[in-house]
Amino acid sequence: MIDLFPIAKPLVHALDPEAAHNATIKALKLGLTGQIGRASDDKVLATTAFGLSFPNPVGLAAGFDKNAEVITAAHKMGFGFAEAGTVTPKPQDGNPRPRLFRLSADRAVINRFGFNNRGLDYFEDRLKALPATRGVFGANVGANKDSDDRTADYVTGIERLYGLSDYFTVNISSPNTPGLRALQSKAALEELVGRVLEARTAKVAAGARYIPILVKIAPDLLDADIRDIADIALSSGIDGLIVSNTTIARPDSLVSKDKGEAGGLSGAPLMAPSTEILKAVYNATEGKVPLVGVGGIASGADAYAKIRAGASLVQLYSALVYDGPGLVTKIKRDLTARLKADGFSSVSDAVGTDA
Ligand SMILES: Cc1cc2nc3c(=O)[nH]c(=O)nc-3n(C[C@H](O)[C@H](O)[C@H](O)COP(=O)(O)O)c2cc1C
Repeated sequence: MIDLFPIAKPLVHALDPEAAHNATIKALKLGLTGQIGRASDDKVLATTAFGLSFPNPVGLAAGFDKNAEVITAAHKMGFGFAEAGTVTPKPQDGNPRPRLFRLSADRAVINRFGFNNRGLDYFEDRLKALPATRGVFGANVGANKDSDDRTADYVTGIERLYGLSDYFTVNISSPNTPGLRALQSKAALEELVGRVLEARTAKVAAGARYIPILVKIAPDLLDADIRDIADIALSSGIDGLIVSNTTIARPDSLVSKDKGEAGGLSGAPLMAPSTEILKAVYNATEGKVPLVGVGGIASGADAYAKIRAGASLVQLYSALVYDGPGLVTKIKRDLTARLKADGFSSVSDAVGTDA
């Protein structure tokens, strides 16, 4: 299949960024991108984490497919797994537009969407419509902005979607829902994790299968926060951590005119800081908690750096805006070569070798 993105990119980037994204989702729903990256993966890329098997460790990060509409298309692009959401119990519009900005000269994105999504009813229907034979995917759940009990919203998401996804992500790190990231503080996180895991225990007791639950954290955490989160991850029964969401920091290196827009920054400038946090979390959890490394990955070298810093799996989003779906195949090819050149026979052998 020919990669049409280099031809389409000037047209896509002439559109307002949110319109371009919506057009991309429509095209993917129609199957227009075909089978770009689904040639079988080299066996060195096959891996396992939290009880699931992946053909390769490169996943689509949350936020691209907020309403679980293009999971199959993500697998066809060559992703080893896809994460849909963030979904909130009730549909919500999110923040006023414009709320998505391309920082092209920085290979970065700023977004302040604020969990715009069609809600659990729609999301659940989409998951029920998936073919029986399909790739690995996760459901990323969140809380409505106007919710009185945000913890209850996460529990609702997990209860409603239980058994329909391969794993869950509890997203407590979006900078665009005021107060949400306070759920990362010790007492709040203990209570949230406690209630979420209780919901799973009840499902398993009623005969359902065990579904892994991950927590997604911000890159803007202090050492003490990392210590607390690591302690909870080690003691609670959480299956893994995703490191990280977008940052509220604005590195001095940014040159694009929209660098001062409010929201979360992602893409190339997030690679180094999010990898530092990943390494710190790997060390604080003594390599005992599976980690998903995300933030700024745009090449095989970046993916490999995350793995060596402690990631069992990786995810990306922003680089797709600049490089298109063909990037997934390039990353996998380069990662394969790097693993083999360093004498690793599997991804898992390389995890944490730099930490
Ligand atoms: C436009 C946009 C929307 C996003 N929406 C979500 C979201 O709904 N839930 C979530 O957990 N992360 C969301 N993210 C964060 C990504 O999943 C990822 O953690 C972050 O962008 C860093 O990866 P990247 O540099 O490869 O983009 C979003 C990112 C972008 C760029």
